[in-house]
Amino acid sequence: MLILLLSMAVGGAAGIGVTYGRRATSLPPPADVARFLARGTVLDRVRLLNADPLALRAFAGMGLAVDVTVPNALVPRIADSVAFARQWVRDSVAPHAAAGTNVSRILVGRDVISQANRTLLLCLVPAMQNLHTALLATSLHRRIKVSAAHSLGVLAVSTPPSAARFREGYDAAVVKPLLAFLRATGAPFMVNAYPFYGLTSDAGLDFALFRVSAEGVTDAGTGLVYTNALDAQLDAVHSAMKRLGFGDVDVVVAETGWPWAGEDWEVGAGADHAGDYNRNAIRHLGSGVGTPLMPNRTFEVSIFSLFDENLKPGPMSEHHFGLFHADMTPIYDAGILTAPETVGPVSAKVTPASPAPAPAPDAGAADSGGRQWCVPTPAADAAVLQENIDFVCGGGMDCGPIRPGGRCYEPDTVQAHAAYAMNLYFRSNGQHAFDCDFGRTGVVTTVDPSKISSSST
Ligand SMILES: *[C@@H]1O[C@H](CO)[C@@H](O)[C@H](O)[C@H]1NC(C)=O
Ligand SMILES: *[C@@H]1O[C@H](CO)[C@@H](O)[C@H](O)[C@H]1NC(C)=O
Ligand SMILES: *[C@@H]1O[C@H](CO)[C@@H](O)[C@H](O)[C@H]1NC(C)=O
Repeated sequence: MLILLLSMAVGGAAGIGVTYGRRATSLPPPADVARFLARGTVLDRVRLLNADPLALRAFAGMGLAVDVTVPNALVPRIADSVAFARQWVRDSVAPHAAAGTNVSRILVGRDVISQANRTLLLCLVPAMQNLHTALLATSLHRRIKVSAAHSLGVLAVSTPPSAARFREGYDAAVVKPLLAFLRATGAPFMVNAYPFYGLTSDAGLDFALFRVSAEGVTDAGTGLVYTNALDAQLDAVHSAMKRLGFGDVDVVVAETGWPWAGEDWEVGAGADHAGDYNRNAIRHLGSGVGTPLMPNRTFEVSIFSLFDENLKPGPMSEHHFGLFHADMTPIYDAGILTAPETVGPVSAKVTPASPAPAPAPDAGAADSGGRQWCVPTPAADAAVLQENIDFVCGGGMDCGPIRPGGRCYEPDTVQAHAAYAMNLYFRSNGQHAFDCDFGRTGVVTTVDPSKISSSST
């Protein structure tokens, strides 16, 4: 039955995720967010910036991989005590993993290395080790990796990429043990990469936005030519790791993104650029081209961020990294929706990233009074339709009319009953196209299905 809820996420082989930050005054409930991400988008991963049980519960059965974050404040305590690490895993992670939330990573702290907090810094790797030990005790270590996300602030030098190195003093004390831990446990080095922040004038915009018109930049150290800023940033991280002997540790883009609005002085902020950047970054990292120093591979990437966060400090751009409004209509076209019907008023050209469900037929639109129904696709398998019925009717909705003796019991076919149940669910949840996806067995139509079935029986 959970199969029903799985989104057939496509996209890059290595996965596309989103950061689900919640420092905002008005956000939809986590359960709605989880359902939307699973059904309405190609995203297959979500990163929480804490381990909020409400959010973790919302993703149960949704299939999406979920990365949780240990707040910085807990890092010293977890580093100090395996017992505390065990308890944290037992309380904050294990119950959700048992209940069907696909917890895939525990990320320790936020950007610990680039903060000038010595206590926190020295606790990072011990905390990661203790969490791994705690996971071993529950056998969850096979499913759940421990890592941490770092900004490019971990690098003392980042250009040209081949000359990059980690900050002085940190490399031996923190970064080397960190990389050794990641290698030993098969976890990736996770980096927050933002070409947006490197911009000081429009001159760099083409390079940051993956435009073909961008002038390539040659790395004098290797002779390799860079055609976009993200590749240069990822290769800088790779070079710095390699310098310490860890060129084999995988690199994952934990965060990247672009603000759709900003202050006058914030070069490049804007919805068109944000759309270009995110679409191009996702396409490039999923394409298998790789980077000049890491060719012929895909990269997992998570876009920052799901929603705008008006409670964050900082300039205007900080509040405008969102992909979606609070009603889950897109702010701009980031190319991550599954169905064209979910396009909101702002954007008219969302690219379906997969074969989308057939669009609503136009026939009948004129006399349907704008009403919409959710019906099974003609090709839908009867067993799957039965699961749809069980899902809807087992979830507290009133299916009396399709039970024996009910007014919609006839025709007594699984297709007719599924049409009733799926439409009930669709209407009760606000008639979003993604509420009619049902693992691609549902389609929105403007033709009243009760008229069709009554004329055909
Ligand atoms: C859970 O996430 C992993 C990625 O970490 C993915 O490979 C796996 O298919 C997901 N599991 C389910 C049941 O969707
Ligand atoms: C360093 O981080 C720890 C843990 O988050 C915190 O308790 C402490 O106040 C921080 N110290 C400074 C100087 O910010
Ligand atoms: C990457 O792929 C290209 C084209 O298929 C090939 O010529 C090249 O040797 C590959 N490079 C590596 C490092 O595998």
